[in-house]
Amino acid sequence: MTKRKRRNGPATTVAPSLPAVTAGLLSPVRRVPNEIERPPYAVTGDPGLSVSSLTRTDDEIEAMRRTGAAAAEILLRAGDVVRPGVTTDEIDRVVHDLSVKAGGYPSPLNYRGYPKSVCTSVNEVICHGIPDSRPLADGDIVNIDVTLYREGVHGDTSATFLVGDVDSVSVNLVEVTLESLELAIAAVVPGGPVRDIGQAIERHAVKNRLGVVREFIGHGVGTEFHTRLQIPHYYDRRLTTPLEIGTSFTIEPMLTLGDPEAVVWNDGWTAVTVDGTRTAQFEHTLIMTEGGAEKLTVTAAGECAHERVRAALV
Ligand code: MF3
Ligand code: CO
Ligand code: CO
Repeated sequence: MTKRKRRNGPATTVAPSLPAVTAGLLSPVRRVPNEIERPPYAVTGDPGLSVSSLTRTDDEIEAMRRTGAAAAEILLRAGDVVRPGVTTDEIDRVVHDLSVKAGGYPSPLNYRGYPKSVCTSVNEVICHGIPDSRPLADGDIVNIDVTLYREGVHGDTSATFLVGDVDSVSVNLVEVTLESLELAIAAVVPGGPVRDIGQAIERHAVKNRLGVVREFIGHGVGTEFHTRLQIPHYYDRRLTTPLEIGTSFTIEPMLTLGDPEAVVWNDGWTAVTVDGTRTAQFEHTLIMTEGGAEKLTVTAAGECAHERVRAALV
């Protein structure tokens, strides 16, 4: 997600009091074979200013369908390895190897200097957690955020997975966050304002006494990882930018049990809740069509890791 300036949000509720997540050790940099096409920032780490259109050509949309499906496949396979004892670095290895095997480049790698191929955000980590030697523990929740670059376009998708036996408060957080994404997707209409997204998400969060993270937002995505288009997950009536047909973008709400205020670790990436309470996130890449927002990050068979998580919630 893209970074945004801070504001206050609601505060509430009780979280399970487990030990705070702390940084582990990073494994050596993973290699991408030379024959794989890289995004422009792969060498320098600098994506530069966003210059791309907010809308995609028909050819780009077809490429985004294929890349999105491949990203969804990788997220499913990454979710399959989630269990107590598995390190987040092992998840990074799986995502990296599957990305390369799919003929793609793992978009996070060296994006603004990011050191790994996927983001793994555990418990109170809101987003941009860096995979390391920390083993997942029974009762954790972990968001895996996969972005794949292939055929000149990015597909960006994430899900929060349950690790072993998870407490009911956290299960509810995960469930409501997934619901809020689905409600937002259903809320948007071609040519309609961006604010419809945040309105749907914030309403559902407030109804369930959860916070909405404001500092990180959804974004346009396509030939660039992050375009100029900003997709806040909270309501602001000034967000009148129309979502024209052909607009490619993400929705990726981060909801919190407590204060949604974020602080970033001194690694420059890991964003955690300031009060240490848990947070969950789900993300899809979407394309605006005549019929509404269509998910691009589902497999060719129409599968999605989100449904796996949903099945595990009951
Ligand atoms: N995938 C994230 C998003 O949803 C961005 C990760 S940037 C990284 O926008 F550098 F941390 F990988
Ligand atoms: Co994103
Ligand atoms: Co993402």
